[in-house]
Amino acid sequence: MKIKIPPSTNQIDFKRSELPIYIKDLSEIVGIENPTIYVEIGFGNGEFLVEMAKREKSSLFIGFEISGIGIEKLRSRVRKENLKNVLCIREDGFWGLHFCFPDSSIDKIFINFPDPWPKRKHEERRITTRKKLILLHEKLKPEGKIEILTDSKNFVDYTIEQAKEIFKVKTEERKDFSITTKYMRKWLLQGRKIYSVLLEKSKNLLTPESKKYYNFEIEKLPKIKMFLERKIEKFAYKKEDLEHKVFKIEEGIFVKFFDILEGKNKILIETLISEHGYEQLFIIKVERKGEKFAVDISPFSSVIRTEGIEKLIEKLSQGQL
Ligand SMILES: C[S@@+](CC[C@H](N)C(=O)[O-])C[C@H]1O[C@@H](n2cnc3c(N)ncnc32)[C@H](O)[C@@H]1O
Repeated sequence: MKIKIPPSTNQIDFKRSELPIYIKDLSEIVGIENPTIYVEIGFGNGEFLVEMAKREKSSLFIGFEISGIGIEKLRSRVRKENLKNVLCIREDGFWGLHFCFPDSSIDKIFINFPDPWPKRKHEERRITTRKKLILLHEKLKPEGKIEILTDSKNFVDYTIEQAKEIFKVKTEERKDFSITTKYMRKWLLQGRKIYSVLLEKSKNLLTPESKKYYNFEIEKLPKIKMFLERKIEKFAYKKEDLEHKVFKIEEGIFVKFFDILEGKNKILIETLISEHGYEQLFIIKVERKGEKFAVDISPFSSVIRTEGIEKLIEKLSQGQL
């Protein structure tokens, strides 16, 4: 089975800027044909992923985590145990799955104690919105499963509601665990109940009609492209035109500029772009080069060069914001 993993980096890390990751045969990594593929989203300090990987050396474990400290903790555990079957990706789990995995490629996804985002206004941030569950469904093999552990009954109820037309759903209160996690121990010490939610793809409830009904806009997600710096005669903006301002690039794509630093021959612009919910923070560099100016992403920024960023750089260069 092919999956996109960068050949240039070591087995448990790569830079975000290297996305889209390149195709590599996963069986080469663990040294067996068609390994079982497990994914954990939000692995925290990595103890669950590492314990699983120790127990099943012929399977491949891939973790997504947004915290750099979490990544470092996982790396040191993997090194200590000398494991060869763990990969980690510093990326939002939802977007990471979209970018890195072909459809029908994952055996099981684990999500241990995801942030429940209890406020209604933060619903979009929950990992079990219907839209996200449909993507996860697409990435699972036909018999694939998702297992979620949480201490939040509200999160369980929300997830059941979102999942019931997509997956076969089983939920129960759990007392025994063969592997514990930091958050599990924390909640157990406080006497809280722990629930598991098992989502099974086997009963394929997702029809093409229901996909349309849910208005799942996978085609609108950012596509990755290479692009070059823009050379321009004159940079149209003054600091106050951009600093701390929000602009709409097009439907679903917004940019916010934060602080702007002006040097003798260079302007650095702190930038946040949101493309259909996918957010990236980076620095835009406008540099005098002889008689012209060059506009580009600073090499100190690690970004996935998306169409949205390309459009932003184009509009900024042309004075069209
Ligand atoms: C409450 S902690 C649980 C950590 C660990 N699974 C445990 O049980 O101890 C949630 C973790 O999810 C990570 N996280 C939050 N949002 C994420 C996302 N969108 N993608 C990947 N990881 C995420 C956080 O950085 C944090 O480490």
